[in-house]
Amino acid sequence: MRELLARTARPGVISFAGGLPANRNLPLEQLRVCLDAVLSRDDGRALQYGPPYAPLQELIAGYMRERGVVCETGDVFITSGNQQGLELVARLLIDPGAVVAVEEYTFTGVMQAALGHGATLAPVAVDLRAGLDLDALEDALRRGVQMLILIPDFHNPLGVSMDAASRVRAAELAARYGVPLVEDDPYSALRFAGEPLPPVKAYDDAGRVFYLGSFSKMVAPALRLGWMIAPRELQPRLTVLRESLDLESSQLVQRTVAEFLARGYLRPHLEQLNAANRERCRLMAGALERALGGQAHWTTPQGGVFIWLVLPGGVDTQLILNTALDAQVAFVPGFAFAAREGAGRSAMRLNFSNATAQGIQEGMERLLAVVRATIDDRFPAEAYRLLAADD
Ligand SMILES: Cc1ncc(COP(=O)(O)O)c(C=O)c1O
Repeated sequence: MRELLARTARPGVISFAGGLPANRNLPLEQLRVCLDAVLSRDDGRALQYGPPYAPLQELIAGYMRERGVVCETGDVFITSGNQQGLELVARLLIDPGAVVAVEEYTFTGVMQAALGHGATLAPVAVDLRAGLDLDALEDALRRGVQMLILIPDFHNPLGVSMDAASRVRAAELAARYGVPLVEDDPYSALRFAGEPLPPVKAYDDAGRVFYLGSFSKMVAPALRLGWMIAPRELQPRLTVLRESLDLESSQLVQRTVAEFLARGYLRPHLEQLNAANRERCRLMAGALERALGGQAHWTTPQGGVFIWLVLPGGVDTQLILNTALDAQVAFVPGFAFAAREGAGRSAMRLNFSNATAQGIQEGMERLLAVVRATIDDRFPAEAYRLLAADD
């Protein structure tokens, strides 16, 4: 993935590959004001080592309570982003050989954290409308898994979200089977359509859910700041485990983000970010419909930053990538997200948050020309009609 992202960074390439917000949508001016205020007010303390910054923990607890999670300031464990949260939970909970259930396509960092601690992955089927298939999850639990790692909101790479009933059921299954459920949630604040849904953690009466939240996508990735709401009795162990990774998150960043939240900058920032993403997603989906309507499937996100496109079986998106890069456009082939060896070959992940509206139109034109040529080459119209009828 690192190699691919390096190739896509070449000048002239329109990239739908990463998962970055667009530079011009970052709250540069607001962060400058907050940073200045923090340095003036807190002087040297902002540049010191220090324990988690309590006013930030309090603001996050308030944000989580608004989302339906019962929690107090002391429940908020500050992290340096969700990747660190995933690593910490993996260190805490995974013994070598443990079976960890994940969505059958999932964020590469989820797989890396679990596999890095000797886990075996149990891929659980997903649906292109609602994400995780809860019946398949229950089957996996019946066969015996030791942990679940799920991305319920604007899933990476699928872009879809679990509905409310599935969230209730996921919490209930974790409780019934007595397994920890890690809820990896960097994207829920990036909703641009539909109604907000409470996280799975809001239904966690049994104290099985480790909720991971992050400022990376809702404010800026370079902050490297996130939080975890973990079962309370495990917090001391998490604190000790974290000491071997870093010595707390940056005081400067914690104080700056607390200032950003306290000044009420988050809501207007999200409104403009989500409005921009809504338009880019609309343009991308429109281009897909015009070029591939009836011949391919793709997800319809209500937020987040990704569309998942599934081409007719037999089209290998890894092979298409080389031609696409020659045409100066990039995406990530689906196999990179597959928890099951050999899956995702005909799929690709498309990011819509980074390119300009014009970039999306131009990039989709380039990409869809490559895709169309591959499909037309492999599936002359008549053969494709027969294939589609079999579906
Ligand atoms: C699903 C998911 N989890 C975790 C992360 C890592 O996020 P952070 O920047 O908070 O470490 C990402 C980043 O793209 C992600 O998509």
